[in-house]
Amino acid sequence: MAITGIDTELAKSYLERGQLVAIPTETVYGLAGNALDQQAVLSIFEVKNRPSFDPLIVHIDSFEKLEGVVADMQEQARLLAEAFWPGPLTLLLPKNPDIPDLVTSGLDTVAVRVPNHPLTLALLGSLDFPLAAPSANPFGYISPTQAKHVETQLGDKIPYILDGGEAGVGIESTIIGFPEGMPLVYRLGGLAIEEIEKVIGPVQYLPHSTSNPQAPGMLKSHYAPRKPFQLQEKVDQATLSSDAPTGYLLFDKYLDEVPIEYQRVLSPEGNLLQAAHNLFSYLRELDAMDVQEIRAEMVPDTGLGRAINDRLRRAAAH
Ligand code: TXA
Ligand code: MG
Repeated sequence: MAITGIDTELAKSYLERGQLVAIPTETVYGLAGNALDQQAVLSIFEVKNRPSFDPLIVHIDSFEKLEGVVADMQEQARLLAEAFWPGPLTLLLPKNPDIPDLVTSGLDTVAVRVPNHPLTLALLGSLDFPLAAPSANPFGYISPTQAKHVETQLGDKIPYILDGGEAGVGIESTIIGFPEGMPLVYRLGGLAIEEIEKVIGPVQYLPHSTSNPQAPGMLKSHYAPRKPFQLQEKVDQATLSSDAPTGYLLFDKYLDEVPIEYQRVLSPEGNLLQAAHNLFSYLRELDAMDVQEIRAEMVPDTGLGRAINDRLRRAAAH
């Protein structure tokens, strides 16, 4: 069983021996290993049960360490890194040959970010290698936003969970790349597109698909609870489930007709930051409840709401 604690020295010693450690970030918890160690990277795929065609994000603690990860950096990427790192933004850049092909699933770009969490920044600062880290959930399930989520699902497979409390943002990083020099968002996430556009102007978004070889890992069915999951524009009285006990994931209002314990309201104030923060832990709570299905409604499709709706749609595609 994994030990859970706040000992970055201990975390470091496991990582230096090629073992895996769960690390807190501001978005979700990551399952981290030495990005330069093939064996460590292989075990990330094994522990997560992740297909090898789905590449990993490399984590560093400073701009200076980018040199060891990427081969070069164009102007727009540099502007974004300056504006948003540390933070919930992942850049796709030409890969440095030192990064094993396993990390990038053979692509010539590498995904890289500086996460904004004091414990993980301290850990990264003490290491002389970057950390490859996907979200610390079994492939296809909901990403973990608390140490106990990791413990429940991967606790018997890794030695240590670095406990940084609840992830503040609560939704994975926004991924942006520059194919043919044009900015393209590959995954909506914790940094709103509107914020990115303030810095580099209009960007395109690549909607997810079930089979797009250009975008590995942008699989439609993802982030899914185990229970049947239905997504509606709005849940109201007319659409309530009459028969089976049902759990409800709502945006800002409780339903009068349903017992309160079967409801989770993402943000009673209608705040999208708060909704993103609560999304994955509420989905887990509903999944663990004594209900036969989960019904969810969409949130306003602006700012972080777009990333939330993206996760809800993917969960429903299961
Ligand atoms: O917030 C986050 O990004 C979290 C924390 C731990 O940093 N990490 C995370 O990793 O969400 P993961 O592995 O669950 O999602 C990474 C996504 C995958 O969908 C993968 O396909 C995509 O990034 N990706 C990685 N490298 C890529 C590349 N070179 N080109 C296109 N997509 C890439
Ligand atoms: Mg993931």
